[in-house]
Amino acid sequence: MSARARIRLGLVLAAAAAVILLAGLAPAQKKSYDLFETPKTCAQCHGEIFAEWRQAMMSQAYTHHWDEIEYFKLAIPQAEKDPKVAEVKAGCNGCHTPMALFIGDVPPPLPAAKSRANESVSCDVCHTISGIQGDTPFNFNYVLSPGKVKYGPRDGVTSPHHDSKYSDFVKSPDFCGLCHNEKNPYGLFVKSTHLEWKEGPYSKQGVRCQDCHMWHAPGKSADMGEPLPDMAHHNFPGGHVPAKIRGVIEMKVYADAEELSPGDKTVVKVHLYNAKAGHKVPTGSSEDRQLWLEVTAVDAKGGRHVLPVDRKGFPGEEYTITSRAPSYQDIGDMMLSIPGFKGLPRDEAEEGQRVFRMAYLDPKGRLTIGQWNTASFAVDYRIGPRETKIESYTWTLPQNLPEGNLRIEARLLYRLLVKSVAEFLKVPAEESEAREVNSASTDVAIVY
Ligand code: HEC
Ligand code: HEC
Ligand code: HEC
Ligand code: HEC
Ligand code: HEC
Repeated sequence: MSARARIRLGLVLAAAAAVILLAGLAPAQKKSYDLFETPKTCAQCHGEIFAEWRQAMMSQAYTHHWDEIEYFKLAIPQAEKDPKVAEVKAGCNGCHTPMALFIGDVPPPLPAAKSRANESVSCDVCHTISGIQGDTPFNFNYVLSPGKVKYGPRDGVTSPHHDSKYSDFVKSPDFCGLCHNEKNPYGLFVKSTHLEWKEGPYSKQGVRCQDCHMWHAPGKSADMGEPLPDMAHHNFPGGHVPAKIRGVIEMKVYADAEELSPGDKTVVKVHLYNAKAGHKVPTGSSEDRQLWLEVTAVDAKGGRHVLPVDRKGFPGEEYTITSRAPSYQDIGDMMLSIPGFKGLPRDEAEEGQRVFRMAYLDPKGRLTIGQWNTASFAVDYRIGPRETKIESYTWTLPQNLPEGNLRIEARLLYRLLVKSVAEFLKVPAEESEAREVNSASTDVAIVY
């Protein structure tokens, strides 16, 4: 046998041995939730951080009512009959309960079974992420290395319970992008909070996700440790925290005259400035969210006149103006199999008002709240970071308008989930109640 042939045979044998070795190891290495520590274990020493995490959506990403309903009632049934979206049966868990996907517990038991899948995005998930596969973070492309080493933001930290390893990655927005960018089975980025941030002004100035969503302030990282002046608090406030939403958009209303008479034509302008968010508003689950502007004129006798917004004429604009047109038909004919399902009304608000939204369309071109069932977008009319949108309202004053003060009011409202969808699927009302983001007004004198 030549030297080269001997080497080749050697390599083949080595490869065969490796296969046998792996095959032999496989049963012994059967993955279980025991690979991960429970948040309660971390709480023994990290009391303050645990209290914060427990009250953030991270700890409920699998158990929260709407997550449970959407995954079990809509996504799984469709994944089981539509090969195009089959992957989401497992995939949803990559971000909502990463341990379950990692160990292959798919689909995980219902939240009521109180399995460890309920730990959702737990301490040990985030702190055993050791890196990323590829360059762009999306679709849970983390490297998860459960074990004794916990990755954290500081160097030279010692703990009696675990090893600590400094990680640049845990401090970078790319870390958040692992789950805050989502590419669906149609190859579309249906969630792109990290990409929006990256394109926007904050990334250029080095303002990270962690700076706005994990406040750095005095606190004790571990109960037995020294107080830190700039501890990373685990608040993660977002759409479910009214105090985070309130005032995110600043507003001003302008009338084009100080005095007007009935029959006059006037143009009212509303400026909306995204002063606080590092990405578009709304962001993330934009298929569910609604942000809309209500402009009304209240006359001296209390009469209320709703002003419809002027059309701008961009493609897909019809989706940015409130309407009761039947929509979301895919819930009935692609997910739940309800014969003759006609759809649900698109908006709750009075017709003709501006909605800031991204319109997700199903494969049949109809509006959908299923981000996994989205085959195209009709329009992206959201307010970018530090962007100002200006809406105008051309209005002919009614003849019977009483003399005196006319107050023009603009209110910006937000809801997490389309109301008709929430009611139809029996999602608790808190998920669809309208919350005021901001308001502004101006006065005009009506003279004869
Ligand atoms: C969504 C991911 C995520 C989850 C869940 C999470 N952490 Fe963190 N944690 C981070 C990030 C990111 C940082 C660093 C932030 C920074 O400083 O930029 C951090 C920092 C820390 C620190 C160091 C704080 C400091 O300022 O020195 C400790 C300790 C910690 N986490 C413990 C926990 C514990 C305990 C839990 C569960 C109760 C938990 N973490 C849950 C992402 C997470
Ligand atoms: C027996 C106590 C104890 C337990 C249990 C414990 N830790 Fe720690 N941990 C510490 C101490 C002490 C420190 C150092 C704190 C300091 O220096 O301020 C620390 C530091 C950390 C850090 C910060 C590293 C850094 O870069 O600043 C992380 C992250 C962390 N722990 C995660 C966890 C997670 C996740 C769990 C649960 C799986 C856990 N810890 C359980 C005591 C504990
Ligand atoms: C392992 C996946 C994962 C990582 C990593 C992750 N998140 Fe999340 N995050 C989620 C999921 C899932 C939700 C949705 C929870 C829900 O409503 O079901 C969420 C929700 C949120 C929310 C919204 C809370 C609300 O009130 O609606 C904010 C804010 C947030 N994350 C910020 C961050 C930041 C900042 C980072 C990086 C430090 C980060 N996340 C890293 C999975 C992750
Ligand atoms: C300059 C501050 C700032 C930065 C930087 C920032 N955010 Fe936000 N974020 C906000 C504010 C304010 C809101 C509330 C308004 C809203 O929901 O859009 C918010 C909302 C969110 C929400 C909730 C959206 C919803 O509808 O539930 C998520 C998720 C989120 N941010 C994730 C991130 C991630 C991930 C990054 C980094 C890639 C990031 N944010 C960077 C300020 C910031
Ligand atoms: C790449 C990560 C990722 C994948 C995959 C993913 N999600 Fe999410 N999901 C998130 C994040 C992050 C949020 C929070 C975004 C925000 O607050 O705007 C979220 C929010 C949600 C919400 C809204 C929660 C609320 O209360 O507003 C539901 C419901 C949901 N996801 C269900 C699903 C289902 C069902 C699937 C699979 C078809 C899925 N998700 C796949 C990351 C993911």
